[in-house]
Amino acid sequence: MSSLRPSAVVVLAAGEGTRMRSATPKVLHSVAGRALVGHVLHAAEELDPEHLVVVVGHGRDQVRAHLAHTAPRALAVVQEQQNGTGHAMRAALQGLAAAGIELAGEGPVLVVAGDTPLLTGETLRRLVDVHGSEGATSTVLTAVLDDPTGYGRVLRDPATGRVVAIVEQKDADEDQRAVREINSGVYAFDLAALRESLGRLTTDNAQGEEYLTDVIGLQVQAGQPVSAVAAVDAEEILGVNDRVQLAEARSLLRDRINRAWMRSGVTIVDPETTWIDAEVTLERDSVVERNTGLHGRTSVAIGAVVGPDTSLTDVEVGAGATVVRTQATDAEIGPGATVGPFTFIRPGTRLAAKAKLGAYVEAKNAVVGAGSKVPHLSYVGDVEIGEGSNIGAATVVVNYDGIAKHRTVIGDHVRVGSDSMLVAPVTIGDGAYTAAGSVITDDVPPGAMAVGRARQRNVEGWVARKRPGTASAHAAEAASSPEPTDGSQVPDRPEEQQ
Ligand code: UD1
Ligand code: CA
Repeated sequence: MSSLRPSAVVVLAAGEGTRMRSATPKVLHSVAGRALVGHVLHAAEELDPEHLVVVVGHGRDQVRAHLAHTAPRALAVVQEQQNGTGHAMRAALQGLAAAGIELAGEGPVLVVAGDTPLLTGETLRRLVDVHGSEGATSTVLTAVLDDPTGYGRVLRDPATGRVVAIVEQKDADEDQRAVREINSGVYAFDLAALRESLGRLTTDNAQGEEYLTDVIGLQVQAGQPVSAVAAVDAEEILGVNDRVQLAEARSLLRDRINRAWMRSGVTIVDPETTWIDAEVTLERDSVVERNTGLHGRTSVAIGAVVGPDTSLTDVEVGAGATVVRTQATDAEIGPGATVGPFTFIRPGTRLAAKAKLGAYVEAKNAVVGAGSKVPHLSYVGDVEIGEGSNIGAATVVVNYDGIAKHRTVIGDHVRVGSDSMLVAPVTIGDGAYTAAGSVITDDVPPGAMAVGRARQRNVEGWVARKRPGTASAHAAEAASSPEPTDGSQVPDRPEEQQ
């Protein structure tokens, strides 16, 4: 059965979120790399609603800016004062009208709270389907909880089992509080009936607010068909009100994401310590080792191994690459490339196929050609390295003159000697070598050997003259005296000769 397309999804997100104790509006706190409201909008988008509305109030400028950036098609409607969820819903309908939008579609209007990041599109679709098949004016998504404290309770007629009303915790009597079926705050409404019911809401309750939940009771009293759907998985309706629930939501989402990737053919060695953001993608037979975070739009291609102890943000990892104990942001790691351990990759870095960045290497805005290697203890910044080149241990690309950054170009099949300083801007031609310990300030032509260091000078007998009687002097003396003729070994520790 194909679902009816909702004419609108309205996300309620005007509340203050006092219990977060945060300068950031509650719905902008993020889990799995996405704001709470972003998860809700993502689930809503799976149903392709004709209109998407977000009711904003507290922190409206921040929320609006976030929406403009992440969900440009969502219409932000301001609820000036937060007089309750029913009031918020009236604001949403007024905002649509003010924007010249008429809800003309056949489909229902869905309402979801902005702080329920675990809600899925699948559950919303089921809500729409039941709403349609039962011909209801309102359908509420419910869940049965062991501890229903704080939620509105769903009251049913004991004879028919049908929903009669929702009563808020603060308005409920003892018997009502014992009910374990709760209101998730997610509903499907027939628009005409909703409009009519919203007009009849009062503030005659413990909180002095217009409750959207009262729509249910009002419609039942008016003899209109009201329905309910129970969430298959109660965790889906978890609303985040404080940072403890934020952490709970984060770990539930982590488990859900990890299970989905494992079922699709990814090995996750230690799911408890693996954090994969919602927008990350992994191909079959990739392996994620323990204590690893994959963030933003990171992608991991077939057969690649990432981790342990690795954090990648917006990184493209090629097929069969290995990335061990690495922190990287905004980079490309080519197929078969190897990175780590203890490697720091900063934005703009691109490794071609089979390139290598080894232990204690930092790279920034570095392009490393196919098969080229920076194996140990180096800094390579603002540099382009050709193919098949080798950068010796402890090389530094000196890209900063104290005022500006400059570029370095290293050709193909270059051999940079260990402990070279390449002072940018400088170009090292194809096939060139630099001598270990050189400070290279001038361009090196292809095929040349550049030596940029003082020539070595040996001052013979210096230790005997300047450091007489020391262990060094004894060692030197023993080394220069002739071999004993009886064939016995010279003791290698001078003290033993005394
Ligand atoms: C609400 C429901 C309750 C349900 C629970 C599920 C009502 C009266 N109660 O209670 O039955 O069990 O959700 O989590 O609806 N909001 C606005 N404007 C307002 C008030 C709230 O936009 O004037 C938004 C909030 O930002 C939030 C959502 O509506 O995203 C729910 O409001 P909240 O105050 O959290 O309601 P609950 O007390 O949790
Ligand atoms: Ca809530």
